[in-house]
Amino acid sequence: MYVEMRQINKSFDGFQASKDVNFGVEKGHLAALLGPSGSGKTTILRMIAGLDKPDSGDIMINGVRVNEIPGSKRGIGFVFQDYALFRYMTVADNIAFGLEVQKKSKGEIKSRVGELLELVSMQDLGKRYPHQLSGGQRQRVAFARALAPDPQLLLLDEPFAAIDAKVRRELRTWLKEMIGRVGVTSIFVTHDQEEAVEVADTVIITNHGKIEQVGTPEDICRRPATEFVTDFIDAKRLEVMMAGREG
Ligand SMILES: Nc1ncnc2c1ncn2[C@@H]1O[C@H](COP(=O)(O)OP(=O)(O)OP(=O)(O)O)[C@@H](O)[C@H]1O
Ligand SMILES: [Mg+2]
Repeated sequence: MYVEMRQINKSFDGFQASKDVNFGVEKGHLAALLGPSGSGKTTILRMIAGLDKPDSGDIMINGVRVNEIPGSKRGIGFVFQDYALFRYMTVADNIAFGLEVQKKSKGEIKSRVGELLELVSMQDLGKRYPHQLSGGQRQRVAFARALAPDPQLLLLDEPFAAIDAKVRRELRTWLKEMIGRVGVTSIFVTHDQEEAVEVADTVIITNHGKIEQVGTPEDICRRPATEFVTDFIDAKRLEVMMAGREG
């Protein structure tokens, strides 16, 4: 397992947001954290990222316990729903940001930014500012910015929540392909079960701070582990989608 959460508990002012959370994500896999609003998805992501500290339990990345390692040293890239781009920086400068922090040379930065612009098919848009882009283009820049420092783990918190349904569907297919191409282990938060089933290798279902089930999309549709999963998952609708994905 590349990432492992072992017996994680986390409370905020007496409210338990994570309860005995256990799961693992294999190297190179794309996992979806799926669950209702308030079920603790963002809390899990923030702890992996080092933005919050668990009260107990171990967070393992690549076999190393990282609880005491600052987020900036964990080799993680982020894409958040409202993690806005820097408004007064061009697309290219946004993508370069993490490389500047790492004090890479000018030449290195230029060539890496070029590579990433190409990866997200925005070669001609490097000089634009965020307000001159569509929502989907902005999220592609956010994705390129997160990947620039070559993270080993990519965390995405509802990256497409603010984008309309049609573009969103295109973007998630695009994202899956990109992540596959780059080969980066990724954890993706969503409360949209179609999105989870369509993109993820592993689906992790959260409810009231607990993990209800960890399985493949097929597992959660055909072999729901708990009553909650049975009620929560619209198996009929998802079967139709999976048939499309397989075919
Ligand atoms: N900093 C905090 N202080 C107090 N309570 C918090 C804090 N962060 C999260 N919580 C609480 O923990 C619970 C889980 O929150 P979390 O943000 O992880 O949910 P979520 O599954 O990401 O929900 P959504 O789908 O709405 O984003 C919620 O009840 C929330 O109010
Ligand atoms: Mg959230």
